[in-house]
Amino acid sequence: MDTTTFYGDHHVILEEATQTILTICQQIKTEKNCIEHINSRLKSPASVEKKLCKHGHCATPEAAIAHLTDLVGIRLVCRFICDIYTVAELLQSQCHVVTVKDYIANPKPNGYRSYHMILMVPTTHGHTVAVEVQLRTISQDAWACLEHQLKYKKEIHAERLVREELKRCADDLASTDLCMQTLREFIDMDSHIVWDG
Ligand code: GTP
Ligand code: MG
Repeated sequence: MDTTTFYGDHHVILEEATQTILTICQQIKTEKNCIEHINSRLKSPASVEKKLCKHGHCATPEAAIAHLTDLVGIRLVCRFICDIYTVAELLQSQCHVVTVKDYIANPKPNGYRSYHMILMVPTTHGHTVAVEVQLRTISQDAWACLEHQLKYKKEIHAERLVREELKRCADDLASTDLCMQTLREFIDMDSHIVWDG
């Protein structure tokens, strides 16, 4: 079933919330010039069904709205780690934040790093829609995309080796992100030095 059919009357509300949060994110991107790219998605009917059933609910759009906070998902890919916290603060000043999960300060055991926020976005229909915003660096996004793909590969015999290597890559990338951040701070400082010969 396609997304429009599944969500029915709720589709227009979810679309409106998506546009509202995208406009806010676009403004931040233009003003701060620290967001590399922005993606949005409406959770697919298949994913909704899977998640609702897992939690013992019927797979209806009403149950989805009532129980799931990631029907609208926004991904903001930033250049540097400090940009993630700048963007998160700006979002917090404009939207009601209900949950924050900082998987950058506290990475998942598999190495996953990102900063997650659940925001409540008001719509003109008088509804408030929960939106999941994921903030990541370019490296964190590259890692998560690959790891996500590998999860769906059916036959990985050396599963433990793959898991360990993925974790190592995540840690290497985190270390590189820190170096890049330090380099940026050095370049910023350096460009303010007046060399008087
Ligand atoms: P979900 O049931 O997956 O929504 O998880 P949750 O409710 O515990 O929330 P969490 O904040 O941990 O994860 C939400 C989303 O973050 C997921 O749907 C993924 O998009 C992303 N994510 C979380 N953990 C991982 C991970 O280990 N690998 C990858 N690739 N993505 C992850
Ligand atoms: Mg999710």
